[in-house]
Amino acid sequence: MDMRRAALVFVSVQLLCAQDIVLPDGKAKSLVQNSCTECHGLDVVVEATMPVNQWRDTVKQMVKRGAALTPEQIDTVVDYLSVYFGADKINVNTAGPTELQNALQITADQAAAIVAHRKANGNFKDLDGLKKVAGLDAKKVEAKKDSIGF
Ligand code: HEC
Repeated sequence: MDMRRAALVFVSVQLLCAQDIVLPDGKAKSLVQNSCTECHGLDVVVEATMPVNQWRDTVKQMVKRGAALTPEQIDTVVDYLSVYFGADKINVNTAGPTELQNALQITADQAAAIVAHRKANGNFKDLDGLKKVAGLDAKKVEAKKDSIGF
């Protein structure tokens, strides 16, 4: 069991045993406790699982809504949340077409193109290789780079 999963189980058990949620220890624990509980419970936070770039978007959304965080604190909170409530990166060399489609938010045709490309040319080695797949938008691939693994 990896650390993140252990933390999730820990949090889930806490959820079942008690109403008050205990966050895993970390640099941003008190920041999250203080600035993410103004409008909804911590349950909304700990039940979410997403890759780092999505956490960044979410936290920025929350700041737009009114969460009081400085840009530096946003980084700290995003790091913390993606360690404990992060989704693993998608491996573009092993993922199936549906998984690719969902994780990269691409069309079925684009996902099929990734699968066809790796069948024809072997595994992708890096982001640049992935960007070469016909029909893929390099900018979109770049935007998802934090959640792509090889
Ligand atoms: C100013 C109010 C406010 C603050 C502060 C706030 N949120 Fe939210 N949050 C919302 C609203 C409104 C929603 C959407 C409705 C809901 O799910 O309750 C939401 C939903 C969410 C969701 C569900 C997914 C989504 O995007 O709808 C997550 C995860 C989340 N917030 C995380 C956080 C985190 C992390 C913080 C602290 C950095 C935070 N929120 C602080 C208002 C806020």
